[in-house]
Amino acid sequence: IIYQVSPKVEFTNIKCTSLDLSFSSFDYCHIKAVNRSFKYLSLKVKLHKVPITKIKVNIAVLKRFNGYRPFMYNVTVDACRFIRNPKSNPVFSYLYSLFKTYSNMNHTCPYNHDLIVEKLNTQFVNNQVTAVLPVPEGDYIFETNWFAENIQRAVVRVYGTLS
Ligand SMILES: *[C@@H]1O[C@H](CO)[C@@H](O)[C@H](O)[C@H]1NC(C)=O
Ligand SMILES: *[C@@H]1O[C@H](CO)[C@@H](O)[C@H](O)[C@H]1NC(C)=O
Ligand SMILES: *[C@@H]1O[C@H](CO)[C@@H](O)[C@H](O)[C@H]1NC(C)=O
Repeated sequence: IIYQVSPKVEFTNIKCTSLDLSFSSFDYCHIKAVNRSFKYLSLKVKLHKVPITKIKVNIAVLKRFNGYRPFMYNVTVDACRFIRNPKSNPVFSYLYSLFKTYSNMNHTCPYNHDLIVEKLNTQFVNNQVTAVLPVPEGDYIFETNWFAENIQRAVVRVYGTLS
């Protein structure tokens, strides 16, 4: 007997926006479908003013009702402090775990190289999401806002569905 486990998480779109092209720019930002049940996303942001020593990251989840509304999570951390002590913020730690192992960000500050998230796949995200809490079905946005020296520099929004 072959059990086919279909993923519950789907990526539907990704939008990467640099708010200051002299600071950072995206080389790529896309979703690829390997087959019907296996999709992954990748992005690469070039940093033009390294080293970066002060980073703030906000992660918020939005869910579609009539239009997208904030849903459950909206947390901001000082990334340099957080990465030295991930246990200091369990909620952010959980949200970060959705992409951490597919990125090259998981080291202490400063950051003096381009940042990537490479081939983060739906099955991995699905396992992380459903392992913790049951999450209601629907359309979601996973929004990340990136600040350096207290100025917002970039926004990455991943659109997905849970079914
Ligand atoms: C889809 O691609 C993934 C990754 O290459 C593979 O593990 C999986 O078996 C494929 N599924 C089907 C239905 O072909
Ligand atoms: C998250 O909270 C911040 C601070 O209160 C707010 O400015 C921001 O708009 C919120 N994000 C979302 C997606 O609602
Ligand atoms: C990076 O991730 C690993 C595995 O999740 C973790 O053990 C480690 O403490 C993290 N931080 C750094 C700075 O490597």
